[in-house]
Amino acid sequence: MKSSYIIEELKLRSVPEDIVETINAFLKTENLYLGATRVVTTLLDNLNEDFKYNKEYNPIQQIRSRVKTPTSIIEKLSKRGYNVNIQSARENLTDIAGVRVICSYIDDIYLVAEFIASHTDIKIERISDYVKEPKSNGYRSYHLIVKVPVFLSTRTEYVNVEIQLRTIAMDFWASLEHHLFYKYRNEKEGEIATELKDCAEAIANIDARMQGLYNLVIK
Ligand code: GTP
Ligand code: MG
Repeated sequence: MKSSYIIEELKLRSVPEDIVETINAFLKTENLYLGATRVVTTLLDNLNEDFKYNKEYNPIQQIRSRVKTPTSIIEKLSKRGYNVNIQSARENLTDIAGVRVICSYIDDIYLVAEFIASHTDIKIERISDYVKEPKSNGYRSYHLIVKVPVFLSTRTEYVNVEIQLRTIAMDFWASLEHHLFYKYRNEKEGEIATELKDCAEAIANIDARMQGLYNLVIK
C-alpha cells in the first residue's frame, strides 16, 4: 500500500522513469527485509507463548525489530568502499534487517539461540558470542547472522537477518552506552571508557546473581 502510493505520487509529479525505478527497487527491498524480520519475530513470539502456556514462564521479555533506512544503507556501503546499489547492499550488508531479543536471564539467551539453530529452514551464517567473550569496552550480547526464507507470491527468497540476544541488564548498558558514545568520543575518552566498562562489569555481576536466584527458586 504505502510503496504503491509513493510510486504513483512520483509518476504524477513527472519524476524521470529511471529515478522512479530506483526508488521502487529500494521500496521492494525494504518490504522483503520487513518480511524477514516478521519471520523471526513470529517464530520467537510463538516460542515465548508456548513457554507461557506450558511452563508459566517467559524467556523473552521484549522483541524489537528494524529495517535499515536507505540513507543508512548508502552510508555504510560507501564507508566500506562497496558499490552503492541494492544488489551490493544485499550481498555485502548482513544487518539490513535486525531483530533484538531481550531475554529474562542469561540462560534464556542460549535457550533462544538453540531454538533458532534447531530450525532446519534457518541457516546460521555467523555467531558472535559477546556474552562469553565481551568486547573490550564491556559490550555483551549474543549475535547471530541468519538466513531466513521469505515466501513471496512467485518465489522464496533467503534473506539475512542480524539477531541480537541480550538480557534486560545488557540492553540497559548497551542503550545508554550507544547514546553516550556519540557525545564522549572526542573528550576524556580514557576516563569515561574505564567508567563505562566498570558499569558493564557491575551489571554482568547482577545478571549472574539473578541467574543464581532463578536457579535456587525456580529450577
Ligand atoms: P557493524 O558494522 O557495526 O554492524 O559491526 P560488525 O559487523 O563488526 O558487527 P558487531 O557484531 O561488532 O556489531 C553489530 C551490532 O552490535 C552493532 O550495529 C550494534 O547494534 C551492536 N554493538 C556492537 N558493539 C557495540 C558496542 O560496543 N556498543 C553498543 N551499544 N552496541 C554495540
Ligand atoms: Mg550493525
